[in-house]
Amino acid sequence: MKTLVFFGGARKKGNTMRMVNYLLENIEGEKEIVYCYDLKNSPCIDCRYCLKHKYCSIKDGMVDIYEKIEEADNIILAAPTYLYGAPGPMKVMLDRFQVYWAQVIRGDKPEVFVKKGAILVSGGGPRFENQFTGISLELADSLHVCNVTEVGRVLMDDADRMKSLDERPEIKEELVKIAQMLN
Ligand SMILES: Cc1cc2nc3c(=O)[nH]c(=O)nc-3n(C[C@H](O)[C@H](O)[C@H](O)COP(=O)(O)O)c2cc1C
Repeated sequence: MKTLVFFGGARKKGNTMRMVNYLLENIEGEKEIVYCYDLKNSPCIDCRYCLKHKYCSIKDGMVDIYEKIEEADNIILAAPTYLYGAPGPMKVMLDRFQVYWAQVIRGDKPEVFVKKGAILVSGGGPRFENQFTGISLELADSLHVCNVTEVGRVLMDDADRMKSLDERPEIKEELVKIAQMLN
């Protein structure tokens, strides 16, 4: 079993990574983290090539990412909330998932989704209405678009006050539940 994490945050040792690490500690098998801030891929240019062809017209590092997605059993999208959405470099990558959405138009969308996935999100302030609405929709739909069944999500508010995940036993509990569903 292989779990692939797309990490959308700028900080590799921040609040979001604490959740990723704890989740991965509880997951069996092979694990890999892709850091979206390290990717240097082009944004989607909406050329519509993928509406007729199986692959993207742009041959950059996304070729490797598409391959990693094909090979993974579990896909995790993990990110801090930046202005209600995913950080820019992650958004650039997620827009390139358009090749999977295009399966609907091409008529080769799989009927059954065999891959499982989850979303992990942190936000700085204490919980307020719609704090995670934008990013939840964005990440959940991105999983769905690339043919992944979401088994759960963790939305961690008030993260800027936190020094260790030990202060948030309820978050740890949610992460363990998700790990059990992915194992
Ligand atoms: C540019 C920027 C925009 C942000 N926008 C929001 C926001 O809309 N809502 C929120 O709750 N927190 C917001 N935050 C706070 C981060 O989501 C929060 O600090 C998060 O836990 C950082 O994750 P990290 O520790 O993994 O880097 C923002 C932070 C930055 C840098």
